[in-house]
Amino acid sequence: MKQQLLAPQAVNFPCEQVRSLFPALAEEPGFIFFDNGAGAQIPRAVFDAINDHLLHRNVQRGGRYAKSIEVDATIARSRESVAALINAHSSEEIAFGMNATSFLRLLSLAIGRTLQTRNEIVVTDLDHEANIATWLQLEREGARIVWWKMREDNNLYVEDLAPLINSKTRLVACTVTSHTLGSIVDVAAVAKLSHAVGAEVVLDCVHYAPHALIDVQAFDCDYLVCSGYKIFGPHMGFMWGRLDLLNVLQTFREEFIPDSPPGKIEAGTFIYENVAGMAAAITYLETLGASHGGEEEPAASGSLRASLVRTMTSIREYEATLSFEMLKVLQAADAIIYGIDDTSRLAERVPTFCFRLPNVPPAHVTKVMSDRGIGIRDGHMYAPRLMKRLRASLDIGVNRASLVHYNTIQEIHEFGKVLRDIVRGH
Ligand SMILES: Cc1ncc(COP(=O)(O)O)c(C=O)c1O
Repeated sequence: MKQQLLAPQAVNFPCEQVRSLFPALAEEPGFIFFDNGAGAQIPRAVFDAINDHLLHRNVQRGGRYAKSIEVDATIARSRESVAALINAHSSEEIAFGMNATSFLRLLSLAIGRTLQTRNEIVVTDLDHEANIATWLQLEREGARIVWWKMREDNNLYVEDLAPLINSKTRLVACTVTSHTLGSIVDVAAVAKLSHAVGAEVVLDCVHYAPHALIDVQAFDCDYLVCSGYKIFGPHMGFMWGRLDLLNVLQTFREEFIPDSPPGKIEAGTFIYENVAGMAAAITYLETLGASHGGEEEPAASGSLRASLVRTMTSIREYEATLSFEMLKVLQAADAIIYGIDDTSRLAERVPTFCFRLPNVPPAHVTKVMSDRGIGIRDGHMYAPRLMKRLRASLDIGVNRASLVHYNTIQEIHEFGKVLRDIVRGH
């Protein structure tokens, strides 16, 4: 999973071309959007796909008439696209729904019905609360919660997981990348350890997804949840699971719904126009890979994955230059950086930065940034356990600046100027 990254100055990424595809960026060039961790912007093609669906085939699926058949086809195509995005074995393993949180809840309800003597569940204090609280709820069903905690440097060490798991461990729930600190967890190593004791692995891939290549086969996980609105798509979520596990997962479903995926995981109607939009977001990524690889059109459908691999590889390289520059700018302002702050360890992080300026309330930093046309965030980041570890109070929290591939070095320099002005009290 750890991609070798080029030296930061050696990367050539078509950022201007990319930005022109995002109306929110192209139409308001003065606004600097560093709050992508809370949801990214969408390319026009995603908006067009959503619109097209609503205007031309806003009907229920499963009918015998043409428009309904088209809806079925849209959903099927979108499942294929998401399967390629995450390297699933088959599109049946992909379920669509509201968001990552509701899929985690669905999973915990189903797994909670089968705990018996293998009842230990490992959670981390690095995760978003969505991947903690839902598992804590299972204490009522007899689960024993085991905490895999960060060390004092605010990193999770896979060696620390080994003594926590045994033949009673039912599953390990952890994030692929921290939405607050930006650090990447070696989830393939987590899966190796967990499988060795017969435990399953549930991954929260929400924050990793816009930054690097998802590969459920390389991660060797058992379940993975993700949200579309973090990967340049609309508000929707999807879940992947191993087919053999999905087949026996005890989800709630009405009697007449077949006990097979993905239908057994998709209670009721989901938002078809957003599923159409998600496929368009993946086409955007595909096209970026094709054009960055020297081709003008998206590659043939058989090589969708190949284009996505190219795209995510170049995004990862470009984002390392953003991380390098952000660290320099934060360090120049004497900011306290939580998480990896060493420029020689960029391969272990994405460009998401959690920081505080000494003696300046995070809300003040955010307000001044906002007055100067920069969107960042302050608060607890939906991670109360992590806040406690960072010794930040829930109501005050920390600052977070989260960048993606359409952000630029110039924007970082502008952010740095404002940061310095805040430190000087201007
Ligand atoms: C790492 C992480 N996990 C889970 C969630 C919840 O995702 P959703 O809004 O799709 O439920 C978020 C949302 O910000 C997140 O950043």
